[in-house]
Amino acid sequence: MNSAQELYKSRKRTLDQALELIQSNDFIISALGGGEPLEILGQLHTLADRGVTGCDITNCLPMGDYEHIKNPQYKDALFVNSWFYGAQMRRAATQENTAFVPQHLHLAFKKRNFARDGRRLVLLASCSAMDEHGYLSFSLGTTYEREIVDTGAVVIVEVNPNLPRTFGDTLIHVSEIDALVEVKYPVASLPEPEFSDKDSVIGAYIAELVEDGSTIQLGIGGIPNAVAAALRCKKNLGIHTEMFTDGMVDLIQAGAVDNSRKTLYRHQSVATFALGTQRLYDFLDNNPSVMFKKGSWTNDPYVIGQNHKMVSINTTLEVDFFGQCASEAIGPVQFSGTGGQTDTAVGAQNSEGGKSVIALYSTAGVKDKNGERQTVSKISPLLKPGSIVSLSRNDVDYVVTEYGVASLRGRSLKERAERLITIAHPDFRRELLLQAQKMMLL
Ligand code: COA
Repeated sequence: MNSAQELYKSRKRTLDQALELIQSNDFIISALGGGEPLEILGQLHTLADRGVTGCDITNCLPMGDYEHIKNPQYKDALFVNSWFYGAQMRRAATQENTAFVPQHLHLAFKKRNFARDGRRLVLLASCSAMDEHGYLSFSLGTTYEREIVDTGAVVIVEVNPNLPRTFGDTLIHVSEIDALVEVKYPVASLPEPEFSDKDSVIGAYIAELVEDGSTIQLGIGGIPNAVAAALRCKKNLGIHTEMFTDGMVDLIQAGAVDNSRKTLYRHQSVATFALGTQRLYDFLDNNPSVMFKKGSWTNDPYVIGQNHKMVSINTTLEVDFFGQCASEAIGPVQFSGTGGQTDTAVGAQNSEGGKSVIALYSTAGVKDKNGERQTVSKISPLLKPGSIVSLSRNDVDYVVTEYGVASLRGRSLKERAERLITIAHPDFRRELLLQAQKMMLL
């Protein structure tokens, strides 16, 4: 047995033994998305039975259905902070054991939001299997995992041979791990995205904005996947993105992305985390053409801006006549998070020839009090009262719906309202025009 294997053996624990490393008052950070250690998180509520109190846990887009989130009775043992909601956090949002933390992804670690009051940090993450040199990889993401290890945090990981081995800031040596728990469940995945005709139309409009040789970022949500499909006819695209997706694999395999004209990390795609289907995970496994870099670097608007012709493509829930985007909340009710939306849009504007694009359907089907779906315009005169603005009006170059493209950069408020109404759903245009006149915009 070589020394790496000996170290591995010495760090191996049962789930129960690993949980014993967590003490009262610890500040716990969970890896996010596909990198979540599902079995550890599934048993985290048992800390309460062990007499542990006063811990906090920070998560981002939790994938599992965890007792410690859904059950407020664990509040005194473990308070849940989240900076990006998924379905489970939305359900638990009004409970007394949860709270939302606003932040940009690239500052999530830099601003030390975690290390409060000198409390001990504990990282819970998952890793691919160890290689012959003693290295494991954080696999599907390194938003801040690597940086947290470097603070000297207590590191507890699940080792799952089903996770792809990835390169970049994902690597961790077995000597840096305090406890590892072997697991073998299938990796958390998203279903293969399906596109509607509306998606294809939006994708085609965006394809007109993306010149050959551009470097792209695609955000989270249904539309960005359709955009990827529409970009397959392009040449020499590059990828510098927070989230790496199935659509990007298609672009690489179609030859549209070759990273040959990138001005940063030429010949490699750069990402911070990946989420998608097993096909995506198979593509990433042992693939050095995708570099996973920490979020504080990948999403730093200064870094993003070093790519020439950087195009950020994100989506939103509501946009007002001024171009303000409410992308993470419906009124004041948190839906997701800012994530990297501002990071990437501002970064694209720092880039020579860069563009910040917001794509959305012109309408949404919103449930009323009786549970019936009502169609509303996503382009509104004003955002709903109490709305959270994720992207300021200064940071949007183009808004795209299935009815066309509104170019807002350098345009007055009057011109913005006029252009946005032109791409609103025809059923709402008359009412929107009247509202714009009332607001003295037209
Ligand atoms: N008013 C009221 N409700 C609205 C609405 C509006 N204007 N627009 C959408 N909704 C509702 C929808 O009806 C839907 O409700 P449902 O779950 O009951 O069906 C819900 O909001 C989600 O809308 P949808 O359009 O399906 O969202 P999505 O999954 O495509 O995600 C965002 C869109 C904007 C939430 C997502 O892109 C996001 O979180 N963005 C912020 C972070 C980001 O962009 N990061 C970028 C780097 S990865």
